[in-house]
Amino acid sequence: MERLKLAILISGRGSNMQTLIAACRDGSIPADINLILSNRADAPGLDLARMAGLPTQVIAQRDYPERAGFDAALDGALRAADVNFVCLAGFMRLLTADFIEGWHNRMINIHPSLLPAFPGLDTHRRALEAGVRFAGCTVHFVRFETDTGPIIAQAAVPVLPDDSEESLAARVLAAEHRIYPLALRLVAAGRVRIEGERALVDGVPPQPAAAFNPAG
Ligand code: GRF
Repeated sequence: MERLKLAILISGRGSNMQTLIAACRDGSIPADINLILSNRADAPGLDLARMAGLPTQVIAQRDYPERAGFDAALDGALRAADVNFVCLAGFMRLLTADFIEGWHNRMINIHPSLLPAFPGLDTHRRALEAGVRFAGCTVHFVRFETDTGPIIAQAAVPVLPDDSEESLAARVLAAEHRIYPLALRLVAAGRVRIEGERALVDGVPPQPAAAFNPAG
């Protein structure tokens, strides 16, 4: 399998991006990071990427009133940077079907819920309102419907009785930082295959990545 040449797409803080950068740097993910791209010039993650010495680029959505134009510019930037695999890491923009099709099985995302529960925005608020006992996060290949696609890794965390959106989000984020590098490592090592819209790892359905001690 060819070595992955990544673009990491962000819109904000970039903490998941940082875990991927660290894992590529320490060699635990056999991949190169060719580009960090943001749809917002003020994304704090861009500064982190620059400090890490990585190439960054901004494609601002206000410059592209049409979704198709934005996605064409995005696709052009990725191809110009010789990218062959895309990681969405807090990239808060819906992509067109054409773009997603062009990166079929070459684009993954992290979402802060146990998909297919709670896709989309306000995940933690909705999880608390629903009274679920476990929350978590999911790394998946990207398909057209928001937050759908073959699941590579999931981690569960408990929802505690006195949780706020913030406390739950922080517990889930710690799990995100564990499973995104893990999932990308499996992909980069060529250990993930998609069969009938299920991701198999080493030919079998993946194991759960983690379940945290409520005290942890
Ligand atoms: C994460 O919770 C991610 O799952 C969601 O947006 C958040 C981004 O955080 N899609 P960060 O920018 O990686 O810190």
